[in-house]
Amino acid sequence: MVCLGNICRSPLAEGILKSKLNSTFEVDSAGTGSWHAGEQPDHRSINIAKKFDVDISYQRARQISLDDLEKFDIIFVMDNNNKKDVLALCENDIQREKIQLILQEANVPDPYYGDEKDFLHVFNLLDQACETIAKKLLHG
Ligand code: 4NP
Repeated sequence: MVCLGNICRSPLAEGILKSKLNSTFEVDSAGTGSWHAGEQPDHRSINIAKKFDVDISYQRARQISLDDLEKFDIIFVMDNNNKKDVLALCENDIQREKIQLILQEANVPDPYYGDEKDFLHVFNLLDQACETIAKKLLHG
């Protein structure tokens, strides 16, 4: 799960998808930027997740690396800017083909400069997307 800062959207996506899968799946998140590396998720993301019984408070932000593009089978990005930035890191078509917009045709809006309502909207978008992803991964 990849967004810009790895403090608002992708930590939610990581926590939500993990909550719908079993531990045979490895789910992680990262940011295209490094400004927030080492930080906890934004408190507004922590709080909205907690309301739905998803704990993301243990997560720490980190920047995406080439290793991630090798290791993971699918790289879900939150918006087209993330997609462009991750594509710029890729070294081959195998890596490029792993990248998918998590909402397929739409961007997950960046809630960083928004309020609680924007974080709830992001949570709902990601919850719906992760439900579809989990069904596909679990039942083909
Ligand atoms: P995220 O949100 O990409 O969903 O984690 C943002 C977090 C921080 C910044 C921008 C977006 N920032 O500019 O610091």
